[in-house]
Amino acid sequence: MGAQVALRGHIVSFKGDPFFSPTDEVFVDINDGLVIIRDGIIHEVGQYSELIGHIDNISAVINYPDCIITAGFIDTHVHYVQTPIIASFGEHLIDWLNKYTFPEEGRFADPAYAAAVAKIFFDELLRNGTTSALTFCSVFPESVDAFFNESLQRNMRMIGGKVLMDRNAPPAVLDTAQSGYDDSKALIKKWHERGRNRYAITPRFAPTSTEEQLLAAATLHREYPSTLIQTHISENVSEVSWVRSLFPERHGYLDVYDHAGLLGPGTVLAHGVHLTENERERCAETKTAVAHCPTSNFFLGSGLFPMHQAKNPTHPIRVGLGTDIGGGTRFSLLETMGEAYKVGELTSYPLDGVKLFYLATLGGAEVLGIADKVGSVEVGKEADLVVLDPRATPLLAFRYNQTTSTSEQIFLLAIMGDDRTVAATYIAGQLAYNRKNSGTAV
Ligand code: GUN
Ligand code: ZN
Repeated sequence: MGAQVALRGHIVSFKGDPFFSPTDEVFVDINDGLVIIRDGIIHEVGQYSELIGHIDNISAVINYPDCIITAGFIDTHVHYVQTPIIASFGEHLIDWLNKYTFPEEGRFADPAYAAAVAKIFFDELLRNGTTSALTFCSVFPESVDAFFNESLQRNMRMIGGKVLMDRNAPPAVLDTAQSGYDDSKALIKKWHERGRNRYAITPRFAPTSTEEQLLAAATLHREYPSTLIQTHISENVSEVSWVRSLFPERHGYLDVYDHAGLLGPGTVLAHGVHLTENERERCAETKTAVAHCPTSNFFLGSGLFPMHQAKNPTHPIRVGLGTDIGGGTRFSLLETMGEAYKVGELTSYPLDGVKLFYLATLGGAEVLGIADKVGSVEVGKEADLVVLDPRATPLLAFRYNQTTSTSEQIFLLAIMGDDRTVAATYIAGQLAYNRKNSGTAV
């Protein structure tokens, strides 16, 4: 039997996509709301005054005065195995991979090290209000076991997979097309749909996989069509030219994946900063999604993701937000929203608070194919929720007092919020993180 609890606060959620529907049709805004949770599932959502009579058998009503209750944040692209190398100085993508990333990922053959980092990673997710993530592990199956073990213990809805890479990296972190296929298959059998976990087939990116390996990854996905596929694409201009020279017979970067049979509604491509218009059209046509990772794109000097083109109404792409730790610099999806806003400003496509919160919640859930389970504060969904405190710091509280609308309030949180703003995180209705002094029983 799961949690029986009710949360009182300002509920903010979505029942549609604000990029293509008027805000008043898709934005849910309940100023003094109540979420009633039974057995870990959202049972009722509405005005506190209307629902307070419905709380028989509820063990506790937790009051979060002035706080915003929203669906837990969803990180559509992150590498747990890069937690130890966040903020490694001075390189662009390919040198950064060679100098910092590959040596670090080599340490994850050790199950004890992998378990220790997984614990830190999950603690950080929860401290930042992130309740689901699509995650790269390393090439070693041990790193995947550590990841899913930790997720299972915390009852989280997580997706991850073993990196496939059979060339252009140090031998210590390479597999082969056959061993990568075999190891991934064994991991799918062990972890896919166990607890709330799902598996993602994970070719790192075209430069580190032979065509044989990309084809094997696609074969595996056909054998297990409910798995996801995750990889990187068109993050950095040198990477794009490298792929052209490695695959001269293909029309471009996306065509390498397309030709191998790796595109489709279960595929999430990280970055896509330098995709061409034709490639974006092909993503839309195949329902392939993209993870926008602004802190990483700034940190590695990769470029500005053109959200306005990704959301072209004639061929829109599903887009989520990714932290891309450790190319990215923040676990916080609030801070990631703030950086996405700045990218929008630099590309003449300002994103308001409603769109930013959508990207980090329901939009992310749609990218990961889990919107039937999580992503909004809606009856029947799993109660993965975050409570945000708009008075978390003196300056936030001062500025919050000047706001006159919910859209202003959530924009303020997107621009100035961070881990301090997260008062509590609930997983399937259970309190999984509680900042000191937050929430009072009523
Ligand atoms: N492209 C291929 N591998 C990686 C990685 O680990 N991080 C980032 N940011 N880009 C990549
Ligand atoms: Zn990445």
